[in-house]
Amino acid sequence: MYAVETRSLSKVYRNGLKAVDEISIKIEEGEIFGFLGPNGAGKSTTIMILTTLLKPTSGMAYVAGFDVVTQAKQVRQNIGYVQQDSTVDEYLTGRENLQLQARLNHMPKNSVNERIDEILDLVELSDRQHDAVVTYSGGMRKRLDIVGGLLHRPKVLFLDEPTLGLDIQTRYKIWDYIRKIHKEFGISIFLTTHYMEEADKLCDNISIIDHGKIKVTDSPKSLKNALGNEVVVFEVDSDLKLGDLLSELKKASLVKDVTAEGYEVTIFSPSGNQVMPKIFEIAGKLGIKIESITLTKPTLDDVFLSYTGRELREESNGYNRKKEREKMRRLRA
Ligand SMILES: Nc1ncnc2c1ncn2[C@@H]1O[C@H](COP(=O)(O)OP(=O)(O)OP(=O)(O)O)[C@@H](O)[C@H]1O
Ligand SMILES: [Mg+2]
Repeated sequence: MYAVETRSLSKVYRNGLKAVDEISIKIEEGEIFGFLGPNGAGKSTTIMILTTLLKPTSGMAYVAGFDVVTQAKQVRQNIGYVQQDSTVDEYLTGRENLQLQARLNHMPKNSVNERIDEILDLVELSDRQHDAVVTYSGGMRKRLDIVGGLLHRPKVLFLDEPTLGLDIQTRYKIWDYIRKIHKEFGISIFLTTHYMEEADKLCDNISIIDHGKIKVTDSPKSLKNALGNEVVVFEVDSDLKLGDLLSELKKASLVKDVTAEGYEVTIFSPSGNQVMPKIFEIAGKLGIKIESITLTKPTLDDVFLSYTGRELREESNGYNRKKEREKMRRLRA
């Protein structure tokens, strides 16, 4: 059985927009799976179908082995869902919010308090549990949102953009809590994000989604490796003999491509580590001094770019797009 399985799942909204387009995914039990895509890609729509809040237009979806349409009740019993926007009541305390949620979920009274203690402890909110949520920081609210989804011991936890709008340090902390929850409870996690680093650091597997379609599914590592090339950029102290240096480098093994702009040279290679000493060796022979050198491995940013033709971070202008395409051409081995 899969934690989540969909077959050609689609959603067409009433206005005719196909927000989810023939999505097929399989998420193993115990996996942290990520949906990585830009604004409007269809991430929340997919999550709402999987959590039974929205009916699919066509296709099938199973969560914890249950059909989201015909067995919606069983699905709901087995999932936790943390929405993109916070749903807690600011004027209640952290603990009161969880108690309210437990009542709404018809959880047996006797076990609830113990469970609340356990999960508050897990995300280090015990100290502040009797304070009104209005006094919490963004990160604390998010932690409360997340544990709210864990109250009834779900098998699959859905997190829609768990760190949206939080600063970097807080985001890192939330990742730690998500890892801790995953380890402690052994649950499967389906999360959506448009932060590359989040998908990279947290997920066993990811699907890149754009305009409702899945472009590719794999582990972050395989996706990056598949691009093939690393990039070494170095700066020389003068352009004297630069032409000789470039032609020598072009002949070196493991060098795929060499370009120069002013005093800056860029090399594309499947193994930057092995090329770096060669650069010093050849430059040394020609009496050229290397002022600085950096090695960059492909990021999920580059992977996204290669599958969608644009950057995830922001819509870029024409100039950048041209540069991006050029970069991609070289990154692909
Ligand atoms: N109720 C609706 N009726 C019509 N169109 C909708 C509705 N809800 C969402 N959409 C559209 O469907 C597309 C997918 O939206 P969705 O919210 O699933 O994207 P998302 O990937 O979660 O984006 P974000 O990163 O902004 O949260 C968007 O173009 C959105 O405008
Ligand atoms: Mg969304």
